[in-house]
Amino acid sequence: MTIAFGIDIGGSGIKGAPVNLETGEFTDDRLRIVTPQPSTPETVADVCSQLIDHFEVPKDVPIGITFPAPIKHSTVRFIANLDQSWTGVNVTALMQERIGRRCIAVNDADAAGVAETKFGAAKNVKGLVIATTLGTGIGSALINDGTLIENSELGHLKIRGVSAEKLAAAQIRKAEKLSWDEWAQRLQEYYSYLDMLFSPDLFVVGGGVSKKHDKFLPKLELSCPIVPAELRNSAGIVGGAALAYEYFKS
Ligand code: BGC
Repeated sequence: MTIAFGIDIGGSGIKGAPVNLETGEFTDDRLRIVTPQPSTPETVADVCSQLIDHFEVPKDVPIGITFPAPIKHSTVRFIANLDQSWTGVNVTALMQERIGRRCIAVNDADAAGVAETKFGAAKNVKGLVIATTLGTGIGSALINDGTLIENSELGHLKIRGVSAEKLAAAQIRKAEKLSWDEWAQRLQEYYSYLDMLFSPDLFVVGGGVSKKHDKFLPKLELSCPIVPAELRNSAGIVGGAALAYEYFKS
């Protein structure tokens, strides 16, 4: 069995689990720890360290850490939904120092897209897949013929003058108490825009709300299929683990 460890850092929770990379399944129960406030590099790195201790992750197991921000050459470019002090931080260097293990840091939506490509809704799909996550923000992954194009950040496309995630993220539906119909209208506007810009072959919709996909996905009309993610909330962990394994393999 090939094992790697995934950690998914989010605005409300930090989750970790060991992953069997032949099946994309966890080999142990996932552990979720509430994201500390303030969610600074120091407090979040401490939680990552607790996860590694809890699972007694062996030294040679690669660790993939997913992060809700674009990560270029290991460094956070900007951040919308965690403490602003993350901007400019080299996440890999910080984590390697704190947890004393070889690890990589990647964008959370990119990791989720990779997991769906390897094990879920985008498996064996030819052409362009746009995988999105609807949560606190909107994350995106562009995958062309199975290859990830990193850091696409399509949740920050401007719609009506604001970032799309401020209009159509799952959190906004709750905060503004939108009905499923009202929210679906906003999603229609967003996905139509992506459809026009990229002419994809498939949209995959992830994030916690994707388990209620029957309430909003059937309302959307696009030029290609739009389907729920299959790995749901485990996608970040699984994709992070898979990317870490690939990275350290050579
Ligand atoms: C961030 C993305 C992230 C998404 C989902 C956005 O605000 O800019 O990097 O993938 O939220 O967490």
